[in-house]
Amino acid sequence: MVKNNGTLSLSVISGKGGVGKTSLALNLAFGLHSMNMNTLLVDCDLGLANLDVMLGVTPGKNIHDVLKRGLSLEETVCRLEKGGLDLIPSASGMVGVPELDEDRRLFIIEKLNNFLSDYRFLIMDLGAGIGPTVLSFARMTHRRVVVVTPEPTSLTDAYALIKVLFMKHGVADFDVLVNMARSEEEAVAGYERIRAACEKFLDLPVRYLGHVHRDDTVSESVRRQKALLKYAPQSPAAKDIARILERLSEMRADAREDIAGVPPLSNDGTG
Ligand SMILES: Nc1ncnc2c1ncn2[C@@H]1O[C@H](COP(=O)(O)OP(=O)(O)OP(=O)(O)O)[C@@H](O)[C@H]1O
Ligand SMILES: [Mg+2]
Repeated sequence: MVKNNGTLSLSVISGKGGVGKTSLALNLAFGLHSMNMNTLLVDCDLGLANLDVMLGVTPGKNIHDVLKRGLSLEETVCRLEKGGLDLIPSASGMVGVPELDEDRRLFIIEKLNNFLSDYRFLIMDLGAGIGPTVLSFARMTHRRVVVVTPEPTSLTDAYALIKVLFMKHGVADFDVLVNMARSEEEAVAGYERIRAACEKFLDLPVRYLGHVHRDDTVSESVRRQKALLKYAPQSPAAKDIARILERLSEMRADAREDIAGVPPLSNDGTG
């Protein structure tokens, strides 16, 4: 078994699409790196990848080359920042993108685990929903960040995703991040609805990771292909993200003993 040198793995998931997973994943990665924690960002939205577009980088190779042509992960890595902020990109608009079957899943787990020892964090940006590839990736990591917006459909879809991961795969570790909130009260009320449903129907505790305000600077930074934390570090959303980064850093410190015994990615649903 691969030893873990202290990499905490997170997948960023949501029931409903367009809630801000990719924007948050990239800003969390930038933020962790600026706190001196080497971070690898992996675009696991195999069909509609867009981390490279959001970052304005043009990757040569991508994760499909690893899955289909047996290329090594090293050959696909884009260095986003010196000193440990790297991206493994995917590709958009691929025809006939395969679902991640068991063989490919084990292959990815093995390749990434062997590659991860220099990173403090692995962040996987996933597609939305409860398709097999999403469930497959979401089960591999130590923790899952469930992104929701305060809209009822986003909350019910997130609950459905948590339910299927818990009931079908025994995954029980979820941190809820409320994005595009108009106020802290609205964010906490949204989280409370998910928490109450998970407690009542699944007897499952979930945690609150924090919230990010609805802020037009986020879309502006996407249009300019820059990380928000660099483009507008004083914006309300960037300040919210800074608070979430503190919690992630604490999360890693708290998880240290738990993760020491398990590889960053695993196949058994417990991460
Ligand atoms: N806090 C925010 N305030 C305002 N706009 C936001 C915020 N977060 C994200 N957005 C905008 O919402 C849109 C969708 O974001 P993003 O692509 O990150 O979502 P996603 O969950 O990754 O979508 P998909 O499910 O399609 O992968 C983007 O245009 C982004 O700029
Ligand atoms: Mg996305």
